[in-house]
Formats: sequence, C-alpha cells, structure tokens
Amino acid sequence: MDPVAEIKSRLDPVDYIGRSTRLQKAGRNFRGLCPFHTEKTPSFYVFPDRGTWRCFGSCGEGGDLFSFVQKRDNIEFRDAMKVLAAEAGVELTAESAQKRTRHDRLASIVSAAVDYYQHRLAAPEGADAREYLVEKRGLRQEAIDAFRLGWAPDEWRGLRDYLEGRGYEESDILASGLLVESESGSQPYDRFRGRVTIPIADDRGVFVGMGGRGLHGEEPKYLNSPQSELFDKGRTLFGLHLAGPAIKEAGTVVVVEGYMDVMGPWQAGFHNVVATMGTSLTEQHAGILRRYARRVVLAMDPDAAGLAAAERAGGLFIALDSLEKMAQSARSADAFVANTELELRVAPLPAGKDPDEVARENPAAWANAIDNASTYADFLLHRIMGAETPESPLEARRLVDRLKPVLIAVRDPVERSMYIQRVAAHLGVSESAILDRIRPRAAEGRRAPAPRERGQLLDPTAEEHLLVLLLHHPELRTDLRILPPTIFSNALDRELFNAWMTGHDFDEPPGEDPVAMHGARLKASRFAPLTADMARKEAQNKIRYILRERAIQHQLAITEQVAEAEKKLGTRAVMEAANEAWMSALPTDRVTELAETVIEQMELGLSIHRREEFGRP
Ligand code: CTP
Ligand code: MN
Repeated sequence: MDPVAEIKSRLDPVDYIGRSTRLQKAGRNFRGLCPFHTEKTPSFYVFPDRGTWRCFGSCGEGGDLFSFVQKRDNIEFRDAMKVLAAEAGVELTAESAQKRTRHDRLASIVSAAVDYYQHRLAAPEGADAREYLVEKRGLRQEAIDAFRLGWAPDEWRGLRDYLEGRGYEESDILASGLLVESESGSQPYDRFRGRVTIPIADDRGVFVGMGGRGLHGEEPKYLNSPQSELFDKGRTLFGLHLAGPAIKEAGTVVVVEGYMDVMGPWQAGFHNVVATMGTSLTEQHAGILRRYARRVVLAMDPDAAGLAAAERAGGLFIALDSLEKMAQSARSADAFVANTELELRVAPLPAGKDPDEVARENPAAWANAIDNASTYADFLLHRIMGAETPESPLEARRLVDRLKPVLIAVRDPVERSMYIQRVAAHLGVSESAILDRIRPRAAEGRRAPAPRERGQLLDPTAEEHLLVLLLHHPELRTDLRILPPTIFSNALDRELFNAWMTGHDFDEPPGEDPVAMHGARLKASRFAPLTADMARKEAQNKIRYILRERAIQHQLAITEQVAEAEKKLGTRAVMEAANEAWMSALPTDRVTELAETVIEQMELGLSIHRREEFGRP
C-alpha cells in the first residue's frame, strides 16, 4: 500500500478533524463550525464515507485529510504527509526504527500481563473463574491453555504493581491500554478487574490487546483494551495466530463475531475460525486474510442482527431486519467481493444458536453449514423467498418485486443471470418474466417527452439542458468543481463543459471555433430565469437524471450483449462478453461516485442556505 492510502486507511477523518472543531453527527456526515473562518452557524462538513471535508460557508474550502492539514498548519503537502504519517503510525523514514522499538516495548507489556493473568487463573484465587470456564462455558484445559486465558483478580493495582515491579514505565503501561487513567487525578488503576482475560494477538502472535468477561453478568459483558497505537481493531482478527495454518489448509476462513465463537469451534477441532473485534469485516481485514485463503465464510445466527454494521466505507454492512437493509447488505457484499477479490459466503446456523454452541454440541451441523455455505446473494434471496412457492400470480409478482433490490445489487451479469434462473425455478415462472419485472427503471426512463416549447433546441438532450443552465449560472462552477466531464456522453459537450469550467461564458461572437459556436447556440436557446437556489436544485436534478439514464442504458446494453452471446456462442463466450462489459462499467462507476458527491454536497449547501435564510439555528 502506498503511504498516502495507508495513512488514509488508518485515520478516522471525523476523529482527526474533530480535534480542530467540535463535530456533530448530521445524517451520515458530521458538521461543525468551520475552523478556517469565523462563523456562528456550522457550515463545515466532514464526509466520513469519502474521507473528505468541505466548508459550505464563505470560505468554500474542501478536500481530504492532507489538504486539511496543509491548510490548518499552512504547510506543503510533503510536510502534511509527515504530520499525518506520525499520527497514523505509518513509517516514512528513519524514525521507523524508533517507532518499532516503542511498539515492541508496549507489546512486551501486554505479553507480561498475559503471563500475570494466566498465573492468577492457575492459582487458588482463580478457582471461580476456572469453574466458570469449564462448567459454564464447556472449555477444556487444552483450549484454556492454547488461548492463554487468564484471571484478573478484583483488585485496583494488582497488574500495575506487577508490571512496575518488572521495571516498566508507568507511561508505557498506560499507553498499552491495560491501565485506566483516573479522572480525579489520582493514580492510574488496572483496567481489568474481576474478569476472565482473553489475550488478543496480531497475526504473528504478538499480543496487542485483551478482552475481559465478567463471571456474573456484569456490565459491560466484555471489556476490551482500547484502540491504541498498538491495538488497531480495524485490522485485528481474534484467533488468527492460532488459525493461520488451518485456514491455509482448508482454503477457507470462517469469520464469527465473538471470542467464544472462536474458542468453541477450535475445541471441537475446527481451527480455521477468527473473530472481528466488534466491527464488521473491513477491507483491511480482507487484505490480511487474503494471504491465507480466498474463501471467507460468515457464520451467523440468521435470526440475530447479524454482523455489525460497517462504521466506515470499505466494510461489510450486514443487517437483515428489513428489505431495505437487505438490499443495502447485498450491495455492500457485492462491493466487498469486487474490491477484495475474496469469495464471500454465508453459513446460516440453526436459529438462536451461537457458533460456539453449534460447534461444540453438534460438530456435524457445523461442518455441514460451513461446507454448504451459500453466496451472500443466494442467502438473501432464499431468506426473502422463504420455503413456500407462491400460490397466485399476484403473490409471485410481489415476491419478484421484493427480490428485485437484491438481484440488482449483483452487478456481474453472468452471476445475476444465474440467480434469476434459480429464482425462476423456485417460483415456477419464466426467466424473461423476471427480467422484465426487474427492469422497470428502463420504462420509467422512457417517459413521454414534454411538449416542445418555442425556441427550444431541436433535439434537447438532458445533457444540453444542463449545459444551458450552467451557461446562465456561472456561480454553479464552485459546486461542480469535481464533476467529471465524462458525465457528458458527447465530445463537444465535454469540451464545452471544460471551457465553461475554466471561465468561458460564451457572450462573445463565436467565430469559427466549434466549441464557441456550440456554446453560443446553447446560450441563445430559450431559458427561463431562475434564482440561484432554483438553479442549484435544477442542476442537481439534471445530473441525477443523466446518471440514471446512463445506468439504465448500461444495464440494458449488458443484458442484451449477454443474451446475444448466449444465443450464438455458448457459455464460454458469454463469460468473456460479460467480463468485457464489466470492465467497461468501471469508469462509469467512478463517474457516478463523483457526480453523487456533487449532488450530496449541493444538497447540504442548499439546506444550510435555507436554514440561514429562515434564521433557524
Ligand atoms: N462484545 C464486546 N463488548 C460487549 C459485548 C460484546 O466487545 N459489551 C464483542 C465481544 O468480542 C464478543 C462479541 O462482541 O465476543 C459478541 O458479543 P455477544 O454475542 O454478546 O457475546 P458472545 O460472544 O455470545 O459471548 P458469550 O457467549 O460470552 O455471551
Ligand atoms: Mn455466545
């Protein structure tokens, strides 16, 4: 990974920028007073999904974390990079050695704590904890030893005294996350008290953190080491250091959510299981797992909420409690698979059971669920369809409508057509009927054209409408700064857009230049005057419309291409055609993303403007 990407993947923009100005959640984004100019109402936004920020107030600045630091500290990019690399713990130069020493020092503290707690568990004082692990949790000594479980006695400074006695600095012990700084200013004290301790290692087996569970239902159920320079939850997978060889051998890694859900299967002989640390599976995790296996199986109780929601872009979002969330889940799984090149499967476990229980109580059911895990889309489709076949045409149609969002989320045309086959077989309807039903967007797009007004262009396309609007509203330039010119399908329109962007308003006589002539022609076409706000809204709508049209055209083209190839050439050629279509979809996705950012930012700009206009806080 290059250092810029690495830095971005490690830092949370909300967290970092939040140190300069207090940020509050506003929908998916965060809002605060702009740190770069004086204002009373917050018009500064951070977009965590994209890792960008923008001020919609008078300064109008925006960018990524790097430009934020550049602007904040008034420094060059190179220097901003140094600042952020230090913050993210990314090594750029010779300071790396120093960093590594510190990392090793903190890790050795955690390792010493693992020893300490392990001894407490074996000592007479650990009797209750041992009984809990063996009797209540069904763990054997072998598993307790392998995972190096321990017992943190209910004392305020047992670990602290032990570690200080071994010569560790208090500041280092604090940085390792095992002590808690007292709020009243008195001495720091042990974080884990009266809990079974579960050491957490990185993939090399270096201990970086600790989980702790109370024996008697204390809250919180699990207490964990905090996120720190040593312990990064977004890239840690519990159990990986023990599971590595088994994962390689099986070619499959099973991902669960809980510590116990790793240890239970391990004890039952299933050693290829790891757990996330209370987050969803991130692309960082994927990067690590890819070194071991290509196939990832999520083992989950399908009736429980499922895997935690992704907190930031690049993670899985898995929630099954509504159709909308299932569609969102399907999209996130599809993107995850495309971005990580991992094969993602789901092993639905018997309802109401944790992986821990299933593996220990019924190893055959576990093995079966993992071996027969289905793709995520298949899992969702079956969940929505249920076991019953529909009894009436109306019911079948409703079902197809409910399945539609999941089918659309599958972007690969070959895969999608496979799912459509299965759904068709299950419902007892033809594939083409389903295809027709899941393409109503195309019908919507072909709305009857509005009656032509006098002076209107002969062939008014949405793109030209947008250009006419822009030519009359130069103030929209700021909003559309990052709009990619490729949103225009016609080369002349693209040129015109570029020229407008660089300040041409096409008020001069055009002469012979084709771009200038095109500009002058568009500017002369009929245009009803709009207020600045209306123009913004209008531009937003037009961009949205163009994107939708583009998506529909693209989808239709792919479907036709596949059908054509299938008819003529058989499966192999279909694969190739599909692959080609898929490749050609990539830049379109990028364009779409940028354009959507523009729409979103304009939306925010509008809402702020409105609020200021009406003087609401
Ligand atoms: N977790 C956590 N803090 C909590 C609750 C849960 O960090 N307060 C994390 C732990 O990693 C835990 C996982 O989320 O293992 C799953 O939580 P949950 O399903 O509640 O626990 P189980 O693993 O089933 O734990 P147990 O079987 O011990 O009840
Ligand atoms: Mn459990």
